[in-house]
Amino acid sequence: MPIDFDTVVSRKDTDSLKWDKYRNQDILPFWVADMDFKVAQPILDALQVKMDHGVFGYTLPPEALSAAVIAHLKAEYQWSIDPEWIVWLPGVVTGLAVSCRAFCTDGGDIVVNPPIYHHFFDSHEAERQNVVQVPLHKIDDRWTYDMQALEAAFSNNTRLLMMCSPHNPTGTVFTLSELAAVAQLCEKYDVIMVSDEIHCDLVIDPQAQHHPIASACADSAQRIVTLMSGSKTWNIAGLNCSFAIISDDALRHRFCSAANSIVPSVPPLAFEATLAAYRDGDEWRRELLQYLAGNYEYIRQEIRSLKGLVVEPIQATYLAWIDASGLGLDDTQGFFEKHGVGLSAGEQFGQAQYIRLNFACSRSTLEEGVARMRKAVESLG
Ligand SMILES: Cc1ncc(COP(=O)(O)O)c(C=O)c1O
Repeated sequence: MPIDFDTVVSRKDTDSLKWDKYRNQDILPFWVADMDFKVAQPILDALQVKMDHGVFGYTLPPEALSAAVIAHLKAEYQWSIDPEWIVWLPGVVTGLAVSCRAFCTDGGDIVVNPPIYHHFFDSHEAERQNVVQVPLHKIDDRWTYDMQALEAAFSNNTRLLMMCSPHNPTGTVFTLSELAAVAQLCEKYDVIMVSDEIHCDLVIDPQAQHHPIASACADSAQRIVTLMSGSKTWNIAGLNCSFAIISDDALRHRFCSAANSIVPSVPPLAFEATLAAYRDGDEWRRELLQYLAGNYEYIRQEIRSLKGLVVEPIQATYLAWIDASGLGLDDTQGFFEKHGVGLSAGEQFGQAQYIRLNFACSRSTLEEGVARMRKAVESLG
């Protein structure tokens, strides 16, 4: 039986961050990056088994979990990793923050590439590290690294490049040659790369293929920390299970030392859900990708006729990156909220004239949201 993504699961009054932001207001939320879908049945079943056991003390990663992750990486990306390379974490943002503390403690520079997920701007310690922003640029309607600008920004004070691959919010899936160029530059300037690949299993463009940079640029793997999680793909972000993959022993040691005493262990329910996701969740994921691709196509078609809004092409994620500069508004997010649509403000990602729309919801919710956006834009005359 096909998975039912059409039925609306109400999240109202469930303390959902996404929905309760607009509690008691007629505003449909399309902002923070979680999905409105119920999780895959194998995940629910695994959680139920743990619930029935009823004891939730400190818990080791289940042995089968590393095996499931390793099998997934091999099958999807032909990337072979050792179980010892995996460091379990309660969040990917935690991994970003630990990387800053581990690899840049001396007033060095951390390079980030806006527009970018907002925690790239704030996961460092402001008094100990500098964030240097090198914007991506657009080539043929696709956001990518500006290699000239990147090299101009690198110096012997550069310690860390924080990458987001696939990229949130622009939806770019980087090619092998793009990744190779970045890795070469990091070699030249002795810069460590932390690659946030949380969206890697959400490629919706059939022409695109995600490449983990540590696999694609294996010669540079000794300077790469890869961060991954099943949280976005299988909608279990509230459970808190992520992981870093660090093949180099010394680099991993530095990372773990910085995490020690600060980073809590992963909760038992989170381990179980993540194991079920990687081991038994691929059929659900494949159907999800089709549903998301359909939703993305729907908003592209619909929003095309709204003057002042341009839905940019994305290759991955369930986040549409929309150029709203044509509306000429100072507060685009506030404007749409007044018309019953809750979007993310582009400003949050470092690009004020954009808005971001999370389309991981049932089609009917999306249709209502788009109808409200249409009314809003038409009200401008
Ligand atoms: C690129 C990126 N990294 C990290 C996160 C959050 O990760 P976590 O909840 O595991 O800290 C998000 C959530 O939207 C994201 O888009």
